[in-house]
Amino acid sequence: MEQGKKDETLTILDNRTGKKYEIPVTDGTIRAMDLRQIKVLDDDFGLMSYDPAFTNTASCVSHITYIDGDKGILRYRGYPIEQLAEESTYLETAYLILHGELPDERELAEWMWNITHHTMLHENIKKFIDGFHYDAHPMGMLISSVAALSTFYPEARQIHNTASRLKQTFRLIAKMPTLAAFAYRHMIGMPYAYPDNDLSYPGNLLNMLFKMTEVRYNPNPVLERAIDVLFILHADHEQNCSANAMRNVGSSLVDPYSAIAAAIAALYGPLHGGANEAVLRMLNEIGTIEHVPAFIKKVKAGEGRLMGFGHRVYKNYDPRAKIIKRLADEVFEVTGRNPLLDLALELERIALQDEYFVNRRLYPNVDFYSGLIYQAIGLPIDMFPVLFAIARTSGWIAQWEEMLQDPEQKIARPRQIYHGEEQRDYVPIDKRKYQPSESQAAER
Ligand code: ACO
Repeated sequence: MEQGKKDETLTILDNRTGKKYEIPVTDGTIRAMDLRQIKVLDDDFGLMSYDPAFTNTASCVSHITYIDGDKGILRYRGYPIEQLAEESTYLETAYLILHGELPDERELAEWMWNITHHTMLHENIKKFIDGFHYDAHPMGMLISSVAALSTFYPEARQIHNTASRLKQTFRLIAKMPTLAAFAYRHMIGMPYAYPDNDLSYPGNLLNMLFKMTEVRYNPNPVLERAIDVLFILHADHEQNCSANAMRNVGSSLVDPYSAIAAAIAALYGPLHGGANEAVLRMLNEIGTIEHVPAFIKKVKAGEGRLMGFGHRVYKNYDPRAKIIKRLADEVFEVTGRNPLLDLALELERIALQDEYFVNRRLYPNVDFYSGLIYQAIGLPIDMFPVLFAIARTSGWIAQWEEMLQDPEQKIARPRQIYHGEEQRDYVPIDKRKYQPSESQAAER
């Protein structure tokens, strides 16, 4: 929400008591705590607002990312995503997101040096990864190994120490690609490839993923840039499920590795970062263009969702999806066209004309096309959300930093409306009557 006018108020008439209340409106928002004064009896708790899934609740004031979902606008620190995707690099964008301003030449060089020189992992991390099954999902491996980093850097618990926070920031952004690549190499039974600090951030990721026996891995510049752009697009997205997890868990003042592990877990789900994976599984299931109408029919009948479509905030074309669609063409020039692209285009064509999707304002989101690029680059579907997690790390840290600096924030702890049993007395086990459920009774 952009800043609104000052001195606006809302008058509330409580029909239970006939009392009137005047409540300040700031930035188009009332404070939930201003409702607490509204009571029937003096010893009442006071009025609360009920908002499952936080669909109409601002949980913080933020300066990082601005989204206008109706207009399809996304900006980091005021800079339009289209300009950043065109002109910037992921590391520069990460600096911007974290520091609030674009770096000058010296600041950028220092920032890149610091990230580059924290890419190595403690050798013991390899032992954890070795312990996973060959078919372990890499998001599971990433969650666990990021959480494990907290045990290597116990000083990370000093979350009020600025220098320590900065050090953990370097480490997290630097080590995430190494952890991701190690998880991938474990999946395919290949020896781990160590970081090459002479390469760019995305170039080094490609090196650690795909290096074989060559002495020096030379990343393809088109693919290197494609990864960089995808990472810019995924770097932050204000108060989404994983950012909220980062702030929520971080508000207990736990170390950032543990909070990021929670954020990655939130990202893993198919309704969030797991959607790019789900899109590819859906496209594979549909198989051919002829099956598209039948699939759309099933979605409209409520039998599953069109993955990669719809967004809580965007009720217009996701601006990131537009950029990714263009990027896909550049990547396919190098890798060859992903045969699933035609299927995706046909799904989009039909869905954008269909009343069901039009009325609900469902458009392709960032994940509809990103998976096709990752697949063309040679990554298995399971790795897609892992790449997303690498990119989002800078956003999570920025959200966490902002939460820690905000004097209004404290441990996140929502209220509830209790609809359970009233108080009752404990019944000893021999006095409890066994009541079979309906299905158990029917089986008898
Ligand atoms: N396919 C079919 N119908 C859909 C879809 C979809 N992808 N998304 C929403 N709808 C329908 C719902 O069934 C609902 O219809 P109804 O009003 O008849 O009940 C209506 O549109 C509104 O949907 P909600 O679920 O209320 O919307 P919400 O804002 O809660 O959900 C979400 C947003 C989770 C992204 C949803 O659109 C979805 O599940 N999309 C598919 C998963 C996906 O692509 N997720 C990635 C999001 S981007 C990201 O996290 C990086």
